Amino acid sequence: MSEKTLPNKVPTELPAWKKLHVHYQQIAQTPLLSHFENEPNRLAYSTLEWEDFYIDFSKNKIDRKGFDLLIELAEQSGLNDAIAAQFSGAPINATESRAVLHSALRKIDDRPVSVDGNNILPELKAAQQKMFAFCEQVISGAWKGYTGKPITHIVNIGIGGSDLGPAMVVEALAYYQNHLEVRFVSNVEGDHHLEVLKGLNPETTLFVIVSKTFTTQETLSNAVSIRKWFLKQVPESGIAQHFVAVSTNIEKTKAFGIDPQNTFPMNDFVGGRFSLWSTVGLSICLAVGPESFEALLRGAGKMDLHFQKTPFEKNIPVVLGLISIWYNNFFGAESEAIIPYTQYLRSLPAYLQQGIMESNGKSVDRNGKRVNYQTGTLIWGASGTNAQHAFFQLIHQGTKLIPTDFIGFKKSLHGNSEHQNKLLANFIAQTEALMSGKTKKQVLEELAATGMDQADQLALAPFKVFEGDKPTNTLLIEQLTPENLGALIAMYEHKIFVQGVLWNIYSYDQWGVELGKQLANKVLEDIEGHASHPHDSSTRKLLQKLNSQ
Ligand code: F6P
Repeated sequence: MSEKTLPNKVPTELPAWKKLHVHYQQIAQTPLLSHFENEPNRLAYSTLEWEDFYIDFSKNKIDRKGFDLLIELAEQSGLNDAIAAQFSGAPINATESRAVLHSALRKIDDRPVSVDGNNILPELKAAQQKMFAFCEQVISGAWKGYTGKPITHIVNIGIGGSDLGPAMVVEALAYYQNHLEVRFVSNVEGDHHLEVLKGLNPETTLFVIVSKTFTTQETLSNAVSIRKWFLKQVPESGIAQHFVAVSTNIEKTKAFGIDPQNTFPMNDFVGGRFSLWSTVGLSICLAVGPESFEALLRGAGKMDLHFQKTPFEKNIPVVLGLISIWYNNFFGAESEAIIPYTQYLRSLPAYLQQGIMESNGKSVDRNGKRVNYQTGTLIWGASGTNAQHAFFQLIHQGTKLIPTDFIGFKKSLHGNSEHQNKLLANFIAQTEALMSGKTKKQVLEELAATGMDQADQLALAPFKVFEGDKPTNTLLIEQLTPENLGALIAMYEHKIFVQGVLWNIYSYDQWGVELGKQLANKVLEDIEGHASHPHDSSTRKLLQKLNSQ
């Protein structure tokens, strides 16, 4: 474990936390709409404009005083020093003794970034140039399969950060995609890779094995089985044209049979769930080409600068992180929904689940003590308007408080304004409806207008009342371009960091996934009859059921 490079203040002991607690008791019951009445200039502090982004966080159950206290909390927590430490390359991932430098992959200027006294930028640039050159060859058709045909299909084999980010971005940038069809295999379930392989011609398919460690059970099992499938049809010499790897573990990729020429390096200081900017993004780069990939990086790089240089009250990731803490730690909200109003971003919630929940799902603070306050939020969501017809009922009229991010794009990509107007009408109307609700008086007036008799009106009214007062953030972005997508993803990455710093936890390790992995290896030995490990009675019975004919 490296020495502590992040501040380690217990948030509940900070003066601002205590003041926020008092303030919460004073305003928790104040309807959101009243804040608009009480604060004629509310939008002046609760909307932010940056590049192509307009962020409206006015529809939240907080007033100016509460907002100022949240900013005070961020200051008292040492967030400024934490941000500086992260970007400087200090080993802030202390439990793994690593720096956290996905930001170096998209750095807009060439000022050196040092890890252990060495400037890492030349090495990152070289890996990126190797990836770009390779992608250009595959896209142009200069890279040939073993029978001399150009590549038409890409299969990305990876899981977690080696799958979710590339898969989400390839889907999100479908509009910008070239002729290559990209598929993803992640689950260790054999049916998954067999479905993905359906209809593929080995002569024209390129397999990209992505694993930072190159030890992950799912990825290696899939890679081995897919290689077998390939070798049933193709001589061993064909591997070089059809299998490439992305990893930090060059020895292991070599042992797997991949030519070091065809291995794209990545680095320890880039965490799996933050790695799409690196060579892990190879499938993205193949799908949309180096130019769009660079635009994605540029957007994220600009957001990095915004995060580093903007005062907290105007700093998008800081503000969004603080508002989320307000609900999580004061209102006791357990989850947050993320609703992108575009089908292109339908996988964004799943991608952010890993980013947010693997990072901040921690219960031990940076002093090694168990926390006595809530940390990471549950993240869920789906694309709008589909989500409206699936689970919005619960957000509107259920018993739970679910702060929701609405993400929308002003202009469509194909230029169809008729549909776009309808989409955006829903996008705006939902946040208004969630905040304003519908009173009993309004319901009764509406029912009376239908000619319903009064007794029926009174009986039906309670079911049709909307309490409103449901908080939302609106993120209105000009258009879904690679650059804006990069900025959006980086925005959420920094929000994660802000919250981790304030909760005094380490956001960049993921020890919580290890135990299940270890036990799965033992259980596999039990299932395959190679061992008989001791288990509890429930597990023993389940194993018996599996092994019975
Ligand atoms: O699930 C744990 C995890 O380590 C993730 O953080 C990571 O993204 C994923 O496994 C895949 O790891 P690798 O890229 O090493 O195969």
